Amino acid sequence: MSHETSALPVAAIILAAGKSTRMKSKTPKPLHHVCGIPMTQHIIGACREAGVARIVVVVGHEAERVKKGLGDEVEYALQSNPKGTGDAVRSAESLLKDWQGSILVLAGDVPLLPAENLRSLIAHHQATDAAMTLMTMEMKNPFGYGRIARDEAGRVLRIVEQKDANTQEQALTECNPSLYAFKGSALWDSLTKITPKNAQGEYYFTDTLQILNEQSAKIEALTGVDPQNVLGVNSRVELAEVTTILRQRILYRLMLSGVTLIDPASTYIEANVQIGQDTVIEPNVYLFGDTVIGEDCVIGSLSRIQSSQIGDRVKIYASQVDQSVLEDDVKVGPFANLRPKTHLCQYVKIGDFVEVKNAKFGVKAQASHLSYIGDAEIGAGTNIGGGTITCNFDGFDKHKTVIGENCFIGSNSTLIAPITIGNEALVAAGSAVAQSVGSGDMVIARSLPTVKEGWAANRRAKKHAEKAAKNR
Ligand code: UD1
Ligand code: CA
Repeated sequence: MSHETSALPVAAIILAAGKSTRMKSKTPKPLHHVCGIPMTQHIIGACREAGVARIVVVVGHEAERVKKGLGDEVEYALQSNPKGTGDAVRSAESLLKDWQGSILVLAGDVPLLPAENLRSLIAHHQATDAAMTLMTMEMKNPFGYGRIARDEAGRVLRIVEQKDANTQEQALTECNPSLYAFKGSALWDSLTKITPKNAQGEYYFTDTLQILNEQSAKIEALTGVDPQNVLGVNSRVELAEVTTILRQRILYRLMLSGVTLIDPASTYIEANVQIGQDTVIEPNVYLFGDTVIGEDCVIGSLSRIQSSQIGDRVKIYASQVDQSVLEDDVKVGPFANLRPKTHLCQYVKIGDFVEVKNAKFGVKAQASHLSYIGDAEIGAGTNIGGGTITCNFDGFDKHKTVIGENCFIGSNSTLIAPITIGNEALVAAGSAVAQSVGSGDMVIARSLPTVKEGWAANRRAKKHAEKAAKNR
């Protein structure tokens, strides 16, 4: 047995060039999301976690879009014409021809594959010094999978594809999950010998097994892969199935790390979301993207949080939070809408029916009811009265509202940007303010009241008299 430190480096080839007709989609299959991450990115992640040093993704159908979607942290090989899995692997040859370590070959449409499976594949392959190691799985319903044919002594002979299998072979239940490890030389050499003489007229990668057997190369089979881990996505039905399973795994991981989920069945949390200890997530909560939530928070029912940073002891009730930063001890909702670039410092309170966009609230500032605060800076300790609107848009351009510290903005104020309001200033309720206000000043911008004494009582009396005359 080789020691961890003397292990050979590993490269991986991930096949993602197929046309995937059954998805019936304008989006190429590798880019369909499973819990917030493109399908093929899940396998790339498992490779990284398993310590794979080089990752080559074979692209073909919509190659440029797939490359853009998967990013530049991996290498790409182009299969210009999909002629089968064997042909797909061969298109990575120029990149990995001289690779001295092991080479994994994996499919790009198995997003549930855990790094653990790859680690055991690599460990077994290197410990046995095999030319090829394949993993196998037992299937109750093996239809569609390549079957593993063995000899009387139990040695693996070859892989028979569904469409090429005779009745006897179709009865075999040991199947090929498409998880292989190779010595580079054995891989490239056997690939030159495969032919498209089969039911589908394709270059089957699976034929490399028989070719290496004929050369008496050392083949190892690692049995007992959990079929759930290699569930392949071919249609939207399977996309939903793998999403359900991955969602369960995410929720279990969070619960086991100390997060309370009151009703996991109605909780949707994507793969990259992080949540701190003792935070409570109520039913019907949706957490997306790279959201990070601190400790001891409460995320109330009907909240939807996307790609946001949430501190400790934050309470969010029935609100939308998108691409925003909420520091410790912030309170939001119910029914608030925090749009991108909202930044709420410690102890800020945003109440019901308040919309915030591209605005920063200083420590302890608050807007408790019915406001729109956009393109603004609100100083620490400032109180925004109910019904306050920052008029940030003049029909052509956006303008900024800057409000100092400890200000009092009276209810139903209309602040016409660009505008600056100094520290400790006061805006009288119902004001429409179009010019800046100095520190410590008060502004009142509403028409002077006209009181007509007795006018309403006189009117009522007159109306009653008119009605009485009519009815007489
Ligand atoms: C393959 C295996 C089968 C195995 C099954 C497990 C072969 C011949 N068969 O069959 O034994 O049980 O996987 O799921 O390998 N691809 C390309 N270029 C191509 C063809 C395919 O990149 O020219 C990619 C696809 O995008 C996909 C992967 O290879 O990601 C597998 O191809 P697919 O056609 O789905 O193979 P299966 O018929 O499922
Ligand atoms: Ca498949």
